[in-house]
Amino acid sequence: MKAINVVGARPNFMKISPIIREMEKVPGMNWLLVHTGQHYDVEMSEAFFRQLAIPKPNLNLEVGSGSHACQTGQIMMAFEKVCVQENPDLVLVVGDVNSTIACALVASKLHIPVAHVEAGLRSFDRKMPEEINRIVTDTLSTYLFTTCEEANENLLREGVAREKIFLVGDVMIDTLYAHLERIRRMETWRRLGLRRGEYAILTLHRPSNVDDRHVLGEIINALEKISQHLPIVFPIHPRTQQAIHRFGFDRSFRSIDVNPLGAPDPQRGRGIDGPGIWCCDPLGYLEFQNLVVHSRFVMTDSGGIQEETTVLGIPCLTLRDTTERPVTITHGTNLLLGHDGRQILEEVMKILRGEGKRGQSPPLWDGRASERIVHILAREFGLN
Ligand code: UD1
Repeated sequence: MKAINVVGARPNFMKISPIIREMEKVPGMNWLLVHTGQHYDVEMSEAFFRQLAIPKPNLNLEVGSGSHACQTGQIMMAFEKVCVQENPDLVLVVGDVNSTIACALVASKLHIPVAHVEAGLRSFDRKMPEEINRIVTDTLSTYLFTTCEEANENLLREGVAREKIFLVGDVMIDTLYAHLERIRRMETWRRLGLRRGEYAILTLHRPSNVDDRHVLGEIINALEKISQHLPIVFPIHPRTQQAIHRFGFDRSFRSIDVNPLGAPDPQRGRGIDGPGIWCCDPLGYLEFQNLVVHSRFVMTDSGGIQEETTVLGIPCLTLRDTTERPVTITHGTNLLLGHDGRQILEEVMKILRGEGKRGQSPPLWDGRASERIVHILAREFGLN
């Protein structure tokens, strides 16, 4: 049996890593890793391969950035050639990025079964490109691996046959657990000049938050107020970096003058030494998680971070109007706050008074989702 595993963008890498590790254990399950090249900066891609010991991709399609149609179309054209040449028995895609939908479309038209990991999540907001990617990918998939009961319900409601749906847990959490001991021991927080439990983490990259001057301005306003109470660490996604320059918001931020990855360097300043929104380049997986584990709370519009904070028990304020991961609210530490500054500040104050939301991990988020996925695939392809 030969599978092609597809990755393209940052959140794909931590999802594929444990799946490949499990596939390696099954005799007769052969795989190729294809990187579409959707993300290409060292800190958006290569750093994750190194830290998570993901094997070098067999092929990189090097499509890079572009409009949705360009990016998706270019991936499709390049991936079709790969499928025709390799003739795989399965194409496995993860998550909801453009690489996911593009490769699922190509495979299904060539009659190659598609496995979708993280199927069934729905924000019910079709203005999010990811929502379109999720719906289409799920429609085309033969094996739909889900993280939670709600995802199963969404798929059943959309008419997906029950026997195609497998509730397996969350592969992103597999990666978190696999590295958690090391993550806790690291001292990225100290290197940046922070004190444990006395800072917040921020990530922002959703087009709905960062591409609109008014919305981004409102969020920054709220953040400036919050940063009077404790420093905010803000590893900046390239899309957000560009938006901040474009709208002239640079003055609201301070830059971190130490290398979060290297040894402390007295030549390069003292790091974070007061209130403010402190920016740095995107961090590696381990450094970022180390900062999350020791933070007071996290503010984000990412999907995966809502899940990780739930498992780590860190309060998460999601700066969006919808989430495709409601289980992190019903079970976990997540709160959905949109971009209303007053409400965000109110919740921050609660956290600072020690009244932050507590929660627990959803069922099956136990570090073994990949094991379940690969076991099911091995059975389906007659390998066990
Ligand atoms: C993509 C995913 C999103 C995911 C996010 C994580 C889609 C539709 N969106 O959004 O779901 O949460 O990745 O990061 O697939 N850029 C760089 N260097 C890079 C990659 C991108 O500078 O290595 C810049 C480019 O200017 C590019 C912009 O970031 O135009 C956006 O990149 P793109 O891949 O289109 O989407 P993301 O916003 O990263």
